[in-house]
Amino acid sequence: MTGTEARPPITGATGVLVLLGRPVEHALTPVIHNAALAAAGLDVVYIALSPRPETLEMTLRGLIAGGCRGLCITIPFKTQIVPMLDALAPSSEATGAVNTVVVGEDGRLTGYNTDVDGVLACIDALPGSGREHGVIIGAGGAGRSAVAALEQAGVRRCQVLNRSLDKAEKIAADFAKSPMQVEAAVLDDQGLERALSEADLLVNTTSVGMYPHGDATPVPARFLHSGLGVADAVYRPNPTRLCREAAEAGAATAPGTHWIVGQGVVAYRLWLGAEPDTAVMHKALADYFAKSDARSGNN
Ligand code: ATR
Repeated sequence: MTGTEARPPITGATGVLVLLGRPVEHALTPVIHNAALAAAGLDVVYIALSPRPETLEMTLRGLIAGGCRGLCITIPFKTQIVPMLDALAPSSEATGAVNTVVVGEDGRLTGYNTDVDGVLACIDALPGSGREHGVIIGAGGAGRSAVAALEQAGVRRCQVLNRSLDKAEKIAADFAKSPMQVEAAVLDDQGLERALSEADLLVNTTSVGMYPHGDATPVPARFLHSGLGVADAVYRPNPTRLCREAAEAGAATAPGTHWIVGQGVVAYRLWLGAEPDTAVMHKALADYFAKSDARSGNN
């Protein structure tokens, strides 16, 4: 499979999966899901819609009434959608956010958070790195998902470093009953040096270093070391400056493409009860980035 197979012709029998977000023009899930659906020969398409926040519920109810097979939810609707659903899976309860909606036989809607699975896919892609002491940079929705993922991965101690300390403290308080010890600290050189000197896992959940600001990094190179596994939510450029400097320091690295594909795999499985071809998803992303770089004249 190359990921460029033609999908079956769209007919009245074609199933529809929908992404709801605003904006959605640059969303990557349509790229990976349509490639995997076509490669599997499934007669299902994945499209993106961008309702205004005040029409979110009307859009959701209309789609379900019309036979939509499942939904992906992205910014800014991941928490707004929660009260519109019938049930939450543990991943959504732990994070307070939903990025995948499964439509039951009876029309009941269950919300999942597969961002947690995205972080777990990154951790799995880090060969030989430890699982004792994690450091998470950022305390937004992605940071919270990373804390839930590290808890699932059996990490014993996790420090959440954020520019605004109050958000990191809120996450630490919300995970106070976790078997994992969760602490909050300010994201500055002193906090990074102290946390990373003892850590074996680093997860960046901020957008620092994202194209077109690829020369930025959330962690000065002098704090990186060979005892770390580094997962970066940023997927473009690939590698990011953080991943490049981590590799130069001898650390194992996992770029954000693993996060995107990892969360997509679980969503696809939940909707369709089938396994997507992850190689097809990775290739579709690489082709998409290469094409958009060619269009914008970047390398
Ligand atoms: P997401 O759902 O992707 O996590 P978010 O909820 O907007 O998005 O959170 C973004 C995170 O990236 C926050 O932790 C933010 O820090 P603040 O809480 O202090 O705003 C962090 N972030 C964004 N830009 C940053 C920057 N330039 N330097 C450091 N942290 C940054």
